[in-house]
Amino acid sequence: MQMTNNRKGIVLAGGSGSRLYPLTLAVTKQLMPVYDKPMIYYPISVLMLSNIQDIAIITTKNYLSNFKNLLGSGSQFGVNFEYFVQEKPAGLAEAFLITEKFINKEPVCLILGDNIFYGQGLKDKILPANDRKEGATIFGYQVENPSRFGVVEFDNNGKAISLEEKPDIPKSNFAITGLYYYDNEVIEIAKSIKPSARGELEITDVNNEYLNRNKLKVEDFGRGFAWLDMGTHDSLLEASQFIKTIEQQQGLKVGCLEEIGYRNGWITLNNLVQSGESLKHTSYGKYIIKITSSL
Ligand code: DAU
Repeated sequence: MQMTNNRKGIVLAGGSGSRLYPLTLAVTKQLMPVYDKPMIYYPISVLMLSNIQDIAIITTKNYLSNFKNLLGSGSQFGVNFEYFVQEKPAGLAEAFLITEKFINKEPVCLILGDNIFYGQGLKDKILPANDRKEGATIFGYQVENPSRFGVVEFDNNGKAISLEEKPDIPKSNFAITGLYYYDNEVIEIAKSIKPSARGELEITDVNNEYLNRNKLKVEDFGRGFAWLDMGTHDSLLEASQFIKTIEQQQGLKVGCLEEIGYRNGWITLNNLVQSGESLKHTSYGKYIIKITSSL
């Protein structure tokens, strides 16, 4: 079935990657392997599972051609990629300024290029966020080390009452994940915020503005869910091990974009077979061939 959705998607895949040097001296983080596919496949898969077809990829100038070589037009997955350059890492909220014309008058979903989301309830969480026409929806996740993240504080009724970026003394253990759904007001809000002390346009300032306007919904992903942010060497290795464990146990791939495109009705069975054939010497291609025979 062909699904339509006017919400635009953005994958933010720039940044300096300096925390992963020397790995990222010659290859950008979001192109690094996470087990059997490049990291950026995972956030793209979340946008596709949210039925989003028009997707902006924001990268640094140096790696633009690498991303284009990898992902192309997106037609092989049934999506449309448009590419944008962020000149320097001036903050997550700059994404909305860079893609203002692409977003146009539509709502938008931003996902960070180094975030993995995995769990049974994923679609149950993201589809309602996608359908919400007004305001913003962001997601909290309980973590051991909240000071590394944006942190949300809830009142006794589970309503978000404060948001802070990397607080020294966090008011809760709930981190804000790198997946954000906004209405079109996000462009005006991103234009109105000022760079923080570290010189970045902070996504937390955008979210605080939605909170002030009483238009922010914070959903909790819950403990039965996996959220991995691959900002360190350890978390990069753990993500590969996690994906390998799930895939080998189930015989199903996480983040196979051709499969999602087919199940969304965006590419034909014939397209899927062709993709499988072109990669048939890899486990990724063999998997596609295997699923086509059961469809
Ligand atoms: O991962 C979730 C966290 O992401 C949130 O909890 C925080 O509120 C949010 O600020 C952000 O924190 P990080 O410290 O993880 O952001 P980082 O600077 O590592 O950037 C996240 C990704 O976005 C990373 O892959 C690089 C990319 N990026 C970052 C900046 C600042 C860009 O493409 N452009 C940028 O300007």
